[in-house]
Order: sequence, then structure tokens, then C-alpha cells
Amino acid sequence: MGRTDNDTWDVATSVGATATMVAAGRARATATDDPLIEDRFAGPLVQAVGIDFFTRWAAGELDPADVDDPDASWGLQQMTHAMAVRTRYIDEFFLDATAAGIRQAVILASGLDARAYRLSWPPDTTVFEIDQPEVLDFKTTTLAGLSFEPTATLQSVPVDLRHDWPAALQAAGFDTEQPTAWAAEGLLAYLPPQAQDRLLDNITALSALDSRLAANTFWDTPESQKVGRAAFQRWYECGLDVKLDDLCCPGARNDVATYLTGRGWHVDRAPFSQLLADHELPAAPPKSTDNYCCTAILRGSKPSAHR
Ligand SMILES: C[S@@+](CC[C@H](N)C(=O)[O-])C[C@H]1O[C@@H](n2cnc3c(N)ncnc32)[C@H](O)[C@@H]1O
Repeated sequence: MGRTDNDTWDVATSVGATATMVAAGRARATATDDPLIEDRFAGPLVQAVGIDFFTRWAAGELDPADVDDPDASWGLQQMTHAMAVRTRYIDEFFLDATAAGIRQAVILASGLDARAYRLSWPPDTTVFEIDQPEVLDFKTTTLAGLSFEPTATLQSVPVDLRHDWPAALQAAGFDTEQPTAWAAEGLLAYLPPQAQDRLLDNITALSALDSRLAANTFWDTPESQKVGRAAFQRWYECGLDVKLDDLCCPGARNDVATYLTGRGWHVDRAPFSQLLADHELPAAPPKSTDNYCCTAILRGSKPSAHR
């Protein structure tokens, strides 16, 4: 089934299941020899969700060679590499931001991201996490049940990012006078194109000068979505019982880096192919669908009110 305007989910259904999917990728990336990332929370979280295919993948019980189509440019193995470089990139983004003195972070669509528990935040840092209520509740309850504690002051902001999330964020104590480090990781293609623009406008309006933002693009062309659907078909044949097709919102969307540049951000793009090559990992999608991570710093003048 496709998406609807006010659809909701938990970590085992619809868009919420993609949080479990990427956490399984992080668990595998953590378990490789000489890993680029260290996410010891990903495996226990995926196991607690209980989607058998992802639990087996996270635990190393599924061999990508038995699942992936060897001629396809996307599958379990590529996803593991992609999660390794994307996670590392955004970990470094937050470490650079705190080294530069930023003490307020907002993780948009935080899913099962455990950065609030696993990064070494300076003692006076507040991390706001925004996602749908059931997603946030699952993660905090599960990690508390395993006796894990956040390494920063953690504020959960349970709200849909298509709704008035700026009001919810400010009600949770967000300070518009302080520079902020924002992350929109694995999110944008799940928002309708206009909601993506609104999100970036709201981030800009809420950001003090010298705020920073990390984001990534993915599956935002019909061509790349076709590649994803073919991989999911293999996963269904191998036992995945949650539908992942048609979760991205259709329609042409603005290029994130270009859009941010027009709103006063200085943007630095890192194509996935480059990130993979930098870490000597094999390239995945064909160049025509090469997605990217980007970081941005707000230096210029900006619109003042949020919509
Ligand atoms: C692929 S997961 C990424 C999770 C996390 N950022 C990560 O990289 O591990 C997509 C996340 O986006 C969240 N999401 C998508 N659309 C959303 C919306 N409209 N409001 C709140 N959360 C949303 C989902 O709940 C899910 O946690």
C-alpha cells in the first residue's frame, strides 16, 4: 500500500520499518573487520523489533551472497557499505560541530539512531530527537530496559515532521539563539516534495548563525526507486514479511544542496561514490543515480519566520 497524508507507523511497519532496516545495516557494518563505525546499540534494537529477516541479517545469519542478485547495484552488501560510510560521515559531522562549540543538536527522523547514547558529547550538550511517537517510545523504552543511558541530555520530541514540529521542538526547550547541529539522515525521500522544502525552510528559520546541517539524498528518482524495488523483491523471496515498496513520496523535488545554498547555507557535497572510494569500498549505484551526503553551515542572511 502507498502513503497517505497523515499516515503513522511504529518500528515494524511502513516507513518505521526502514529505521529497523538501516539499523540492521549498521549492526552488520559494526561487525565487519576493521569497522568504520561502532554502533553496539543497533543489534539489540533490531532484535527487539523482531522482524525476523532484519534480525537474522543484523546477527550475521544471512549471507548477502545468498540474497543479493549479483548483477544488481543494490542489496544487503551495498546497504552495509552505505550505512558504514553514511554513519561515519554524520558521526564526524557531530564531532566537528561540538568541537566548534555547538551544544545543541537536533536529530530529525531519529528512528533507531543511537547517537544520543554512543557519541562522546560534551557534558552540557542537549540532543533533541524528533520522530513519530511510537518510534521514539520504542527506542527509549528498549534502551532503558537494557540499562543504557544517554551520553547527553536527551529530549524526545514525538511529532510528525509534516506537522508543526517547530512548535513542538521549541516547547521541548530548543533555543533559537544558540547555534544548532541538525541531521536529516535517511529522511527526505519519505517526505512529500513540498514538505521537504518546508522542513528546510523551518530549519533555516530556527537556526542561529553558524548552525550546521547534515543530510543525505536517496531514492529520489524513479530510476533509483526501481533498483530498490528489485532488491526488496529478493528480500521478500528470502523471508522479509514487511512491504518496503512505495514508501518514498512521488514527485519531482528540489535538490537539497541547491535549495540550502539559496537560503544562506554554505554547502559541501560528498557523493556516495566518493565516500565509498575514500574508504576503499566498492561503488554501488550507477553514476546517473549517485546520491550524496552533504554538510552545510549557515553564514549568510536568512528568512526570519518559520511556516
Ligand atoms: C530510514 S529511517 C532513518 C532513521 C535514522 N535517521 C537513521 O538513519 O537510522 C527513516 C525514519 O524517518 C522517520 N520519518 C519519516 N517520515 C517522517 C515524518 N513525517 N515524521 C516523523 N518521522 C518521519 C521514520 O519514522 C524513520 O524513523
